[in-house]
This record gives sequence, C-alpha cells and structure tokens, in this order.
Amino acid sequence: MKRPIAYFAGTGRGVPETVMRNDDFQRLGLDTSDEWIASRTGIRERRIAQSGETTCGMAAAAARMAMQMANVAAGELDAIVLSTATADRLLPSTAVDLQAALGASRAAAFDIGAACSGFLYAATVAEGLIATGVAETVLIAGAEKMSAIIDWQDRATCVLFGDGAGAAILKRTKQQRGILSAYMRSDGALADLLFRPAGGATIPFSEAVLHDRSHFVKMAGREVFKHAVRSMADATDRALDGAKLTGADIDVMIPHQANMRIIEATAKHANVPMEKVYVNVDRFGNTSSASVAIALDEAVACGRIVEGMHVLLVAFGAGFTWASMVVRF
Ligand code: ACO
Repeated sequence: MKRPIAYFAGTGRGVPETVMRNDDFQRLGLDTSDEWIASRTGIRERRIAQSGETTCGMAAAAARMAMQMANVAAGELDAIVLSTATADRLLPSTAVDLQAALGASRAAAFDIGAACSGFLYAATVAEGLIATGVAETVLIAGAEKMSAIIDWQDRATCVLFGDGAGAAILKRTKQQRGILSAYMRSDGALADLLFRPAGGATIPFSEAVLHDRSHFVKMAGREVFKHAVRSMADATDRALDGAKLTGADIDVMIPHQANMRIIEATAKHANVPMEKVYVNVDRFGNTSSASVAIALDEAVACGRIVEGMHVLLVAFGAGFTWASMVVRF
C-alpha cells in the first residue's frame, strides 16, 4: 500500500432548492408513474435548477462549504479541477468561471470530462498535481445541470437525472490519512450507448438538430445497466486490492448514485453490507459527476464518516468511464 500523498480536508455541496417528485412527470404529460420510476431505480425525487441557477453557481456554493471546512481561503488554492458534462458554455471551461467566482487568484483551472466518474477522476488528477509538487491545495468539484441536456419528452432518460454540485479540498498530507488507492479505466468503443450525438464540433447545432432532438442525451438503458454493474464490481476489487483491504475493512461505501439496483449489486460484490452504504439516489436522482461528491459531503456532514474511517468510493458513467478509490479519512 502506498503512503497517502493527499487527504480530503473539506467537503461541500450546492444543490438547487426546487424539488421535482416522480408524480410531477405525469403532470407534465409524460406517460410514467412514481411506481415505475421508484421500483426500477429507487429514485423518488430530484433537484432541478431554475433559470439563473448555473453549473458554476452550484459548484461555487459547494466549493465555499468545502473551503470553510478545510479552513482554506480562495487565495490559497493552487488548482481547480472541475468535472462536468454540462458546462455553462462550450468555451471557456466552467472551472475558470468558478475560479473567477471564488476569486482564486493563484489557481490554475480546467474542466475534465469523465461524466459520472468525473469526481473520482478529478480527485486522482488532484492527487497527481500534489504528488509532483505542482500544487499543495486543490479544489475539486463535480457539478451538473443535467436538466439542461436531457430530453424532457423521453421518459426513458429524463426521469433518471437531477441537478447539483459537490466539492472537496485536497491537501498534501504527511500523516497516514488520505487516498490509499485509486483506479481509473475507460472504454470509448462503447461511447454510443450513452451520449449526446449533436451539438459538438462534428454535428454542430442546427435547425435539423433542434428538430430531431439529437442534442439531448441518448441512452441504451439496459446495456448501460449491465456494463455499470460489471465495471463497478471490477473497480471495487481494484481499489480494495490497491489499499490491501477487503470489503470487511470498509466503514462506509459511497457509490455513484444512479440506480438502487446497481448500488446493491456493487455492494454485494464488494462484500460491504448495505448498512455501510451511503444512499441518496432517492432524493437526488443521478447527478452524474456531482453524485459521489454530494453523497460524500452528506455522509461527512451527518457524522457517518469520521476521522480514521476507511471509505470506498466507486463510480461509472458515460464514455464509458469507471473509477474507484479507498480513502482513510
Ligand atoms: N416510465 C414508464 N415506463 C417506462 C419508462 C418510464 N419512465 N421508461 C421506460 N419505460 C418502459 C419502456 O418503454 C419499456 O416498455 P416496453 O417494454 O413496452 O418497450 C419498459 O419500460 C422497459 O424498459 P427498459 O429500458 O427495458 O427498462 P429497464 O428495466 O431496463 O429499466 C432503466 C430502465 C431504469 C433505465 C435501467 O435500464 C437502468 O437503470 N439503466 C442504467 C441507466 C443509468 O443509470 N444511466 C445513467 C448514466 S450511467 C450511470 O450513471 C451508471
């Protein structure tokens, strides 16, 4: 097991106040039901950003909470690594908007695109910046306004997602606490199972795109489900092996919050009982790269995670990408 280089000094979250319940979709004229959504996914409600609420704004709220917990001022940040699939603008990055919003005058800032695995990718990148001496203190965030890119006429996707952001401060550590292992993988050959066909440089936005709705998220749900279960199982094995631990050593598991059945299958594979698994998919739906970050912050805030605990984080998303991490808090 490697010596920890970076630890989580603070966490935070920023979620919209507006709650959308499963029943609300029927009121919008969608042929679905609370029973279908809840039994297939475990989702009961999600937060939806209103106009004026931005990806950057939610990330800034999460970042300020994390900075306060870590007792870190904006001027002390060396880098900001923000994961999002819903950047406020296509150019420049949302990370630089966040840098400006926080007044982080010394910070490098960039976005990474790894969809639902993005927060764990960001944490691993931040650890690397700290390991090489490029940075001492890094703000990482996962922030998503999924409501802006889902097709509200497609019941197979729009019921699954929600908006929100989570953040954390990673700092160099000399103690035996911090990231014990990290694992990341991808398989771009499967990209078309979950993607936005148009709106990028290959098929720029046009009237035809608007008409065929190809700028919205398309997903082959069943296929995604199978790959998610398989890859998240692989990822838990790798992170536990890397930390020379087993599921029995894990105090709290924070899985990507996409679907209750995927969470249960992953926990079972990792041999972590459900009492030790933090779940908030019922309240937030799938917030993509914000999902692990929001769940982590809630688990810290409510005292489920305390210093010294071993925490297993695992995620899977579009790309496909998947990632995992064992952290001693
Ligand atoms: N309400 C009612 N019926 C619906 C809805 C809905 N919201 N959505 C789909 N259906 C219907 C379908 O039309 C289909 O009807 P048919 O049999 O008459 O054709 C039927 O329900 C079954 O559809 P399936 O897609 O096969 O349903 P499944 O049991 O696979 O559940 C689900 C769908 C929940 C999307 C599941 O496949 C899943 O969770 N996949 C993982 C997707 C995911 O989480 N993606 C997020 C990004 S990746 C990640 O974060 C892990």
